[in-house]
Amino acid sequence: MDLIIEPHSSISGEIRVPGDKSISHRAVMCASLASGTSKIKGFLESEDCLATIEAFKCLGIKIRKENDVLEIKGNGIIGLQKYNRPINLKNSGTSMRLISGILAGQNFSSVLIGDKSLNLRPMKRIISPLNKMGFSITASDEGTPPLRIYPVEKARAIEYVLPIASAQIKSCLMFASLFAEGETKLTENFITRDHTERMFKTFGISLHVKKTNLKKTIVVKPPIKLDPCNIEISGDFSSASFFILAALISPNSDLLIKSVGINPTRTALLVALKEMGANISIENHSNAYEPTADIRIKYSRLKGIQLNPAVVPNLIDELPVLFIAAAIAQGKTKIRGAEELRHKESDRLEAMAKSLNSFGVKFKLFKDGIDIEGFGQDNENPFKSAEIDSYGDHRIAMASIIGSLRSKGACTVKNCTNISTSFPGFVELSNKLGMGITKV
Ligand code: S3P
Repeated sequence: MDLIIEPHSSISGEIRVPGDKSISHRAVMCASLASGTSKIKGFLESEDCLATIEAFKCLGIKIRKENDVLEIKGNGIIGLQKYNRPINLKNSGTSMRLISGILAGQNFSSVLIGDKSLNLRPMKRIISPLNKMGFSITASDEGTPPLRIYPVEKARAIEYVLPIASAQIKSCLMFASLFAEGETKLTENFITRDHTERMFKTFGISLHVKKTNLKKTIVVKPPIKLDPCNIEISGDFSSASFFILAALISPNSDLLIKSVGINPTRTALLVALKEMGANISIENHSNAYEPTADIRIKYSRLKGIQLNPAVVPNLIDELPVLFIAAAIAQGKTKIRGAEELRHKESDRLEAMAKSLNSFGVKFKLFKDGIDIEGFGQDNENPFKSAEIDSYGDHRIAMASIIGSLRSKGACTVKNCTNISTSFPGFVELSNKLGMGITKV
């Protein structure tokens, strides 16, 4: 699916975005391992999260939806059932990496596969520590899927310092540690999203977390069982970020996004944008197992910044949004420490560089980042009318679509089907706000 986008200003009104993707995955996983029925409200019905649901259905878990609430009948920590065919996790790296940690501890073998993009993504990062724990898991010679997981007699707890800032690796190992003998100690030198820690506590798993400045150590004690629970999932900050950008760069905008997750390990984009001069305020703050608030955004004149590399893990999925903001801002924005962007659904540094190039933006690309020379906002529509390939990557597609609002004429963004992996209804919601997006 390709999309044609007309330039548009004044993104105003009140919207809600669908539920958080990371939290939705973890809620289904923990609920499936719990002893009893959990209820989940606000679950994100995107392709990625549905892949997680399908996987657990294959593994014998009863999941049904009633009045917008997902009911999951957990079967206990080692209560999953063998599935005799490969489990297809489609485009979802989170599903594959986290479920590997769960399946490593079951008493049957499994095979995990994905789509073309997922089958090219690096898996040695989970295989190596899982093997250290005594689990048996293999990938292709290139370290990519299919993953083959075999049962083991027993696994042991390890002390492990994460070599890459990745919540997926951390979470895979946290799940695996439920099946290991002893207390697993995981240390991050850069703090990543902490949804698994919060979800584990919600399901009654005993966790000890020690934080010092940027460093964090998590100690997981294997539980006898997980307590089922009722969970409400708020809007996904990553999805909201596209509309935050739209309102910020579109003259006369005043937008309220209701009930968005504002977990500080996810919202470094807000800090960066405020440093750039963004008029963003947080209203109606509430604090359950995850903090939630309404976010109000007004059109702002932005200036370039030098991003602190230490916060990159806390805005990793929002970097394409930041790139577009930087291209509109006055002056230069420097971003480093973002090499992980090259290992997402596409090489996002390369894909965004191509997108910026089509818009006529000046930049210099580095192995781990980019310098972007912003146009400034004297000209309301500084971008060239462009044809952009999203490379089948949802976040490249949505960031480029929003960038197109500030172009001199209609833009085409190609290969947009995968928007539904994280944000079903994105085009419809955009059009409700007055944007002119047509599917071709
Ligand atoms: C995610 C972690 C991040 C993020 C991804 C979702 C998660 O990936 O990019 O979209 O839910 O744990 P990494 O763990 O690879 O950094």
